Amino acid sequence: MGETGLFYSSVIDPMLKGMRKKVTAEVRKGETVIDIACGTGAQVFQLSRKAGQIVGVDLSESMIKFANKKCKKQSILNAEFKLADATNLTVFADREFDVAIMSLALHQFSPELYIPILSEMKRVAKRIVIVDYAVPLPNNFAGYTSKIIEFLAGREHNHCFRSYYKAGGLVAILAQNGLRINRHNFFGGGAFMLVSCSASK
Ligand SMILES: C[S@@+](CC[C@H](N)C(=O)[O-])C[C@H]1O[C@@H](n2cnc3c(N)ncnc32)[C@H](O)[C@@H]1O
Repeated sequence: MGETGLFYSSVIDPMLKGMRKKVTAEVRKGETVIDIACGTGAQVFQLSRKAGQIVGVDLSESMIKFANKKCKKQSILNAEFKLADATNLTVFADREFDVAIMSLALHQFSPELYIPILSEMKRVAKRIVIVDYAVPLPNNFAGYTSKIIEFLAGREHNHCFRSYYKAGGLVAILAQNGLRINRHNFFGGGAFMLVSCSASK
């Protein structure tokens, strides 16, 4: 995402309010949370009213700068944002967080990154909440629009989306990576899936 965060926060974030509420509902009061690939920090800000300490991490300097500025402006004291790669979260200890969140990001990663990313999520948190495209996408307006958006997002992004889709989406990818889905629900006309999962025994 080669932008300052202004486009995402003014165009995309307002459309994701329902999703933010669903993710927030998965976190218990006072729990510690890490939001991986946090973008503009909108999910972190929403969670800050309920969670304990929250950290948002992203690989984009401009996103982290944008989120930190907003955090300061809104005087949110229990949140912070750090530049970090989802494939390498060694600055965080094992099980440092109650919950690790990743929303709308897994489908944009190249498949060879699933193992390092999901391993790091399992390592740093006790529970994992992920939101991403449902596979298969429904044959309705939401499903067709999702496919068009992913097509327009550019060649590389679309290639990753198609690999995610071909792999079977969250259900298959999480099972292959030692994660058991404890709860799931669909929303956004059936185009999105939220899963709450933990490491398989
Ligand atoms: C589609 S945005 C999703 C943002 C946010 N999770 C949300 O719900 O709005 C994907 C984000 O992933 C970030 N990203 C891409 N590669 C990353 C990596 N290797 N580690 C951490 N963040 C990454 C991008 O900078 C971008 O902010």
